[in-house]
Amino acid sequence: MQKTILIVGGSSGVGLELAKHYVAEGHRVCITGRRDPHLPGAVFFSLPIGASADEMLSGIDSLITVFPGVQTLVYSMGFLQRGLIDALDSQALLTMTHVGLVAPMALASRLKPLAPTPLKLMLVTSSSQYTPRAQEPAYAATKAGLGMLGASLVRDSGIGKVLVAAPSGIRTPFWSGTDEDTSTMLDPGWVAKQIVQLSSGAFKYRYAKLLRNPARVEVVETLDNSFAPIT
Ligand SMILES: NC(=O)c1ccc[n+]([C@@H]2O[C@H](COP(=O)([O-])OP(=O)(O)OC[C@H]3O[C@@H](n4cnc5c(N)ncnc54)[C@H](OP(=O)(O)O)[C@@H]3O)[C@@H](O)[C@H]2O)c1
Repeated sequence: MQKTILIVGGSSGVGLELAKHYVAEGHRVCITGRRDPHLPGAVFFSLPIGASADEMLSGIDSLITVFPGVQTLVYSMGFLQRGLIDALDSQALLTMTHVGLVAPMALASRLKPLAPTPLKLMLVTSSSQYTPRAQEPAYAATKAGLGMLGASLVRDSGIGKVLVAAPSGIRTPFWSGTDEDTSTMLDPGWVAKQIVQLSSGAFKYRYAKLLRNPARVEVVETLDNSFAPIT
């Protein structure tokens, strides 16, 4: 059955791999980002997110108007931000918080009442969700928050199933401009394939780590459909 899938952060890396998969399966797919990857079969919506909350929210409102009927939100937007907390200025902190946390909350808040079927969420976090790093304080905080957002939304009986996928290092443009050795990192196609597999089947909530060296999946928690929603 054809589904309507919104992939925020679908213009590159893991999100783009997921978009290719869902387009190939015949679904209606919209991808967002800053640069259009011109993926045949997908709609691209430019959604640059920075320190301005007003610009972010008006972009999200336009997106929802332009691409109605979303049944699945895949949230893969994220960027590398390194620096001790006193090295991150207000613009940097606001941008990270908007990209990592406020935008997915605003999207879920708007999409839930409009969704033709209970809204399904697939949230891409990071090993930074559960690994504190001095050089990634805001990034790690938003990833931990995104994981908790997913775990909380699943307790809303009006929301469909929720997958929280926490990958370790992936060989993508995320690392552009750094001298990080990405040779042993996860392949984005493999990561997307695991996310698709983890998201299928009957469950209410699933939280999984995608680990490297060797590449493997560790399902941390699954709640089935008999899980009683706490309202
Ligand atoms: N790569 C890793 O090692 C790694 C490890 C763990 C978790 N993750 C997480 O996995 C997810 C996917 O990352 P990836 O590796 O696929 O990285 P990627 O190739 O750099 O893709 C990131 C996506 O987010 C979008 N994006 C980033 N900052 C944005 C902003 N300020 N405004 C609008 N769009 C923005 C990018 O858009 P444009 O390209 O169009 O600008 C792109 O679509 C992210 O949430 C990341 O935090 C990555």
